[in-house]
Amino acid sequence: MLGTPRRHFRRTDSTNQRLRELAERGAPHGTLVTAEAQTAGRGRHGRIWTAPPNRALLLSLLLRDPPHLLSLAAGVAVAEVCGPETKLKWPNDVLIDGRKVAGILVEGRPQHHWAILGIGLNVALRPDDFPPELQHTAGTLAQPMEAIEPILARLLDRLSAWTVAEDQAVLDAVRQRDALRGQPVSWTGGRGTAAGIDQQGRLIVATDAGHLTLDSGEVHLVA
Ligand code: BTN
Repeated sequence: MLGTPRRHFRRTDSTNQRLRELAERGAPHGTLVTAEAQTAGRGRHGRIWTAPPNRALLLSLLLRDPPHLLSLAAGVAVAEVCGPETKLKWPNDVLIDGRKVAGILVEGRPQHHWAILGIGLNVALRPDDFPPELQHTAGTLAQPMEAIEPILARLLDRLSAWTVAEDQAVLDAVRQRDALRGQPVSWTGGRGTAAGIDQQGRLIVATDAGHLTLDSGEVHLVA
């Protein structure tokens, strides 16, 4: 079962950073770091990740010998906890009604066969908790703060299943929740129409010049 041992901080810089240090000192597979607040939460593409104290589930999990579709598998696990209508915006933004309720940041040392899975899930944020620039794009489960620990327990259960699932099962689950399919999208260097997920977990995009695949980077929905 993932989540043992666990270190919990009332306040830390970044749970990913704390866990990285533990990983380098030999912490076992499944080690969990959680925090009530972060002062330097890290997001994808070098962005910061913020949440008011005690309003979000902030966690990092150490996976030794991680599956190569970890980033997608984690998205499926978080989406299952958030509910049947939850969608995934490739690679792993978790959306409810088009608003991002959770972000996932995988960092690691492939040469040392470990990865840190960092998840921020907006469990109990209120609309006013979001900074102005996120008011129209960020979402929340709008649960009470007391829901954070039970949601963590459910998430660890789902992650325990999805991080050992067959690739095909992960891909099928991602495709069922694909928020981008059929939508106009843009990325650095082009635009097209999202056309699903390939067998390696890459985003397929139809463009005027034919189909291409994106294996990293950021994709935007074109308004
Ligand atoms: C994203 O940009 O979508 C990913 C955000 C990931 C944020 C989480 S919060 C817990 C963990 N610790 C961090 O510093 N980042 C991740």
